Amino acid sequence: MKYETNPPDAASLMMSARSFGNYDVPAALADLIDNSIKAGAREITLTCRYNDGDPEIRIRDDGRGMSGRELRDAMRPASSNPLKERSPDDLGRFGWGMKSASFSQCARLTVISHRGEDLTGCVWDLTNVEGWRMGILDEQELVAMASPDLRAKDGVEVVWSNCDRLSENNTVTQAEFNALMVHAGNRLAIIFHRYLAGEVRGKRLTIRLNGRKIEAVDPFYRDHEATQQLESESLEIAGRTIDIQPFILPHYSKLLPNQYDQLGGEEGFLRNQGFYVYRNHRLIISGTWFRLLRHGELSQLVRVRVDIPNALDHVWKITIDKSDAQLPAALRNRLRQLVDGLRRRSARVYRSRGGRLDRPGTTSVWSRHSRGGEVRYTINRAHPVIDALLDTGDDKQRQAASAALKIIEQAFPVAAFSQDTAREPDAIHQTLTDPVAFRADLNAALPLLLMQVDGDFAALENLLRVTEPWCEAWGAAEAVLKEKGWTNA
Ligand SMILES: Nc1ncnc2c1ncn2[C@@H]1O[C@H](COP(=O)(O)OP(=O)(O)OP(=O)(O)O)[C@@H](O)[C@H]1O
Ligand SMILES: [Mg+2]
Repeated sequence: MKYETNPPDAASLMMSARSFGNYDVPAALADLIDNSIKAGAREITLTCRYNDGDPEIRIRDDGRGMSGRELRDAMRPASSNPLKERSPDDLGRFGWGMKSASFSQCARLTVISHRGEDLTGCVWDLTNVEGWRMGILDEQELVAMASPDLRAKDGVEVVWSNCDRLSENNTVTQAEFNALMVHAGNRLAIIFHRYLAGEVRGKRLTIRLNGRKIEAVDPFYRDHEATQQLESESLEIAGRTIDIQPFILPHYSKLLPNQYDQLGGEEGFLRNQGFYVYRNHRLIISGTWFRLLRHGELSQLVRVRVDIPNALDHVWKITIDKSDAQLPAALRNRLRQLVDGLRRRSARVYRSRGGRLDRPGTTSVWSRHSRGGEVRYTINRAHPVIDALLDTGDDKQRQAASAALKIIEQAFPVAAFSQDTAREPDAIHQTLTDPVAFRADLNAALPLLLMQVDGDFAALENLLRVTEPWCEAWGAAEAVLKEKGWTNA
């Protein structure tokens, strides 16, 4: 056999690299931030300018930077072998991230690096890469392009220009651009929360987005007194350790609306339950059960932290964009057992809230009557809202309301309900779990309730304290009263 060289076509390979992985803006920024963290950066500055429809995004760090030679190597696609053993704190793997993440968003990538005496800038312009032509900035271009901070101290500045992939149709409005950046900031606050909070090797990382510091958002809300940290465990695979730590988040009634919104994220609590997998303390996947159970089968409040080291990348089949991984077979059974245990436990947390009947000292909505082996549920006519419904001067309306209550009681779907409780008790979500709806409903009922107590705020507060559903989430109900100034104090 004889051999010929058969290199890839530059333009075609670089165009394909635009579609490696499934990067969105935050994932692409996160890949660059990984590099900065690896380079020892303490402060990372993101500057995103709309620039009259020709956006430019800069990511600058104060890490150790690269020499001119290192920068040239780093610019090369597949700059290192994925099989190479990486230091335990290295967030990279493929030698592609800087290029593929950037090209997923822009067509022109400039990287300027400063180390010691060496200030070098390299450019890949996808419209002009024939024969692997890479641009090298001259003195003047460097001065014009590099931010003054980079010229003053070591570090790296990555510049995305000709950003043709920020939106599907290649043009992005100012409002869309702003929304993208707000979203990116929110995601980065979670992806790097352990670095931002100084939990990794005791060093605190600062990331600024257009001047504003990104504050860590802990998806487990460990600071909150009502968060339950369950027993942790460590598992061994391929001689390496995986740490697993389940949490049960506070019930919504213990959260303020803004805390609830932040924890629920853009997609709400249900979508955000599940495993949170961290590779070297950096969140790579969140809100998945790896098909060990369906979303919604467990209480919405369960989140399980899984810590994996980069030495197990091959076992987890980490993807180039670090946003996906597969659960190793060796872990599957153990995690299934863990999830079964949680299933029992979280159902208790949830069911213990709300819906308990005839609790002494409170006014419930439903009453349970048991006589001679026969059980019957009725709507409590003494509940203030029901009472208001019936207490009307209009006879016809009163009769209609009374008849409505009776038919609701008689038509209570006993068979369907008992089937559901037997089959999937955790799936029944009859009690309100959304604080925004809770507030809206209370606000709607308040004028009526105030009438019932003849406009006496003290009596109103006492009434709500002992009446379902408000007594179940007294903190949230009290906050509504306070906002209105309808309190005793
Ligand atoms: N901000 C930076 N500071 C210093 N060196 C950097 C920086 N960014 C990249 N590098 C160097 O460039 C190399 C290539 O980066 P790139 O992100 O393309 O690949 P990687 O990090 O090795 O692997 P992966 O594809 O998994 O991200 C890195 O290994 C690192 O040596
Ligand atoms: Mg990288």
